[in-house]
Amino acid sequence: MLEGKKIILGITGSIAAYKSAYLLRLLVKEKAEVQVLMTKAAKEFITPVTMSALSGKPVLGEFFESNDGTWHSHVDLGLWADLMLIAPASANTMGKMASGICDNLLLTTYLSAKCPLFIAPAMDLDMFRHPANQASMKKLQEYGATIIEPATGELASGLSGKGRMEEPEQIVEKIREFLESKEEKPLKGKKVLVTAGPTYEKLDPVRFIGNYSSGKMGFAIAEEAARKGAEVILVAGPVKENTEHRQIERIDVESAAEMKDACEKIFPDVDIAVMAAAVADYTPEKTTENKMKRTGDSLVLELVPTTDIAAMLGNMKRDDQLLIGFALETSDARKNAAYKLKRKNLDFIILNSLEDEGAGFMVDTNKITIIDRENKIEEFPLKSKQEVAADIVDRLIKYLK
Ligand code: CTP
Repeated sequence: MLEGKKIILGITGSIAAYKSAYLLRLLVKEKAEVQVLMTKAAKEFITPVTMSALSGKPVLGEFFESNDGTWHSHVDLGLWADLMLIAPASANTMGKMASGICDNLLLTTYLSAKCPLFIAPAMDLDMFRHPANQASMKKLQEYGATIIEPATGELASGLSGKGRMEEPEQIVEKIREFLESKEEKPLKGKKVLVTAGPTYEKLDPVRFIGNYSSGKMGFAIAEEAARKGAEVILVAGPVKENTEHRQIERIDVESAAEMKDACEKIFPDVDIAVMAAAVADYTPEKTTENKMKRTGDSLVLELVPTTDIAAMLGNMKRDDQLLIGFALETSDARKNAAYKLKRKNLDFIILNSLEDEGAGFMVDTNKITIIDRENKIEEFPLKSKQEVAADIVDRLIKYLK
């Protein structure tokens, strides 16, 4: 994920500019904030309208807006960015960059930028291997740029050889790897189990008892822990949420019993477990093979308790493991949460009170209070579930120490 990363995408005059639209799409899909800069020649190959629609920002190209004289500060742009990517980079632009010529906004921004620079050249094979172009690229590398080598294959000229811009997927992969390697990884080498979502307790082939949990909080915690370097095993009940982080192994379960089996097996191998799932406390004593028929009489369902997974793991817990639970309360919140913390042998408990507006199920925000074994109470304001996940993972890291 490139979430929150600010990227300048510079586009120059090359036929490969048509691939920049897809490249931009991929960057945006990874949640990067992208500012597109286009040279005059680039606009001959792909329209700024396409790029601004995809990036959600006006495309910049000129120093001044001709209609109202707005000045675009290359210095501000250069300081804003976490990374600058020029794709495609023509021989002309690379030549100018290597010798400090700055006769357009892309080039002045390049000279002002302090962030890492990635360049994906695209040109015909003879241009690419010309000593002048090779010298430009060498110089740019000496100045600290990373050249994303072009691929070998069929070129727009009809010739075949090295010069084709690297595929957008590969470019994004390289950038992601680079930016991730720069991030702090305090959970590197740690294994984290996270449970998320509701459980469905089956009544018959078409019905179940469930709850409104969306799994958003648990997924956000799993992603944040993975971002901080952990290897995460995410045991998820039936949810719509998705995650693509490569350090998250997802195990889908349906019922409380399946979630219990998965957690029991995984827990001995992890350093930390965060129980964010809304597990059913009761399950039907029996599931009928055929659909239950309407009889006209009232219906009594016999429910039996499920295993309290958090309490079970609390019993299994070694001194070198951390176990974190949630408490969803509708009344006497702090008292109930403190009691759950003890009963389940947790290291800390995260209280969600449905008395707080914006907290709990099916919303993108949450308001939490963290209570630990020493009864230290920390209250947090209402935040997005991603920000709450970052607070929780920060606490985890502190407790590990
Ligand atoms: N939990 C669990 N297994 C269960 C029930 C709950 O692992 N069968 C975990 C939840 O994931 C959460 C914590 O226990 O981390 C507290 O869940 P909550 O529903 O608030 O508490 P319960 O123990 O179910 O108590 P009650 O429903 O009576 O409030």
